[in-house]
Amino acid sequence: MKVLGIESSCDETAAAVVCDASKPEERILSNVVNSQIQLHAKYGGVVPEFAARSHAKVIDLVINEALLNANCSLDDIDVIAATASPGLIGGLLVGTVCAKTISALTNKPYMAINHLEGHLLTCRLCNNIDFPFMALLTSGGHFFFIEVLGIGEYKILGKTLDDAAGECFDKVAKMLGFEYPGGVAIQKHAQFGEQNRFQFPIPLQRRHGCDVSFSGLKTAVKNLISSMNDLSYQDKCDISASFQKTVVSFIIKQLGKALKMSSHPPRTLVVTGGVAANSELRDALSTFSYQHSLNFYAPPLPLCTDNATMIAWAAIEHLSSGYPSSVI
Ligand code: KG4
Ligand code: ZN
Repeated sequence: MKVLGIESSCDETAAAVVCDASKPEERILSNVVNSQIQLHAKYGGVVPEFAARSHAKVIDLVINEALLNANCSLDDIDVIAATASPGLIGGLLVGTVCAKTISALTNKPYMAINHLEGHLLTCRLCNNIDFPFMALLTSGGHFFFIEVLGIGEYKILGKTLDDAAGECFDKVAKMLGFEYPGGVAIQKHAQFGEQNRFQFPIPLQRRHGCDVSFSGLKTAVKNLISSMNDLSYQDKCDISASFQKTVVSFIIKQLGKALKMSSHPPRTLVVTGGVAANSELRDALSTFSYQHSLNFYAPPLPLCTDNATMIAWAAIEHLSSGYPSSVI
């Protein structure tokens, strides 16, 4: 089975052809991502109107390139799957209307896919991982600890009470004068910084459960910056390193609580979403997993951030499990 996946929920226009080969390394036949990073960089975040126009401009070209790279035509495709939610409405409309039009013209089924489910199942695209597993889903707009019991069986153990971690990275980066996307810039500057120079408060210490909160941390960084005179390059690197260390230790702390809350003690931990590209987080999760006798999987870097292979794969997972269509 070959699925054409389409993703356009935020600032990447992406198309991919994925098949249901039993070996993970044979599944991705093409993966094309047209990033809008340059378009939004100077605004410090995604501008929805510009994003939608850019998706509309390139989506047909991106789909053609994905088919070409996979060495196939629409005749070879069995299903057309597109991200239908959540996301910016302009982009979602471009992707879903395009997918439905192809479906109508070719008489092939259309599947609406939930973007978060795409992120969640990426690790099963890249590795043959059994259920149940514990997932940390951390992107620009979402943060969840989820016990994944099967396809469509997602038990949310904890979530953010305010900002997502990626959003916090982006806002702190903007305060430091770095370009969007902030996570990449913070990680880059943190390499040259002293992570113990500034102490930021760790939130929700006494709260029951494994929810997280990042807005207090964002305010603490803002207050620190206002209390300092002109920031030197070294100051910015030190703030980046101290901030990143605080985010990572907070996530690890809450993950420990999430593990205790899971109904089936998991043997596997996966991390997914854009923030999963952060090397300090990946290292800390790998150490945590070793200490708790868990297998640890993180997607390759290009599959952490938004892409269409994950959308095509979620469709394949639904079709192979016989579970009704994705959560829309
Ligand atoms: O999953 P994604 O591509 O889009 C959403 O679904 O939100 O995630 C984008 C987020 C942005 O907030 C970006 O700053 C963050 O992922 N990100 C990172 C890194 N690379 C991307 N955050 C921390 N460290 C990184 N290396
Ligand atoms: Zn995403």
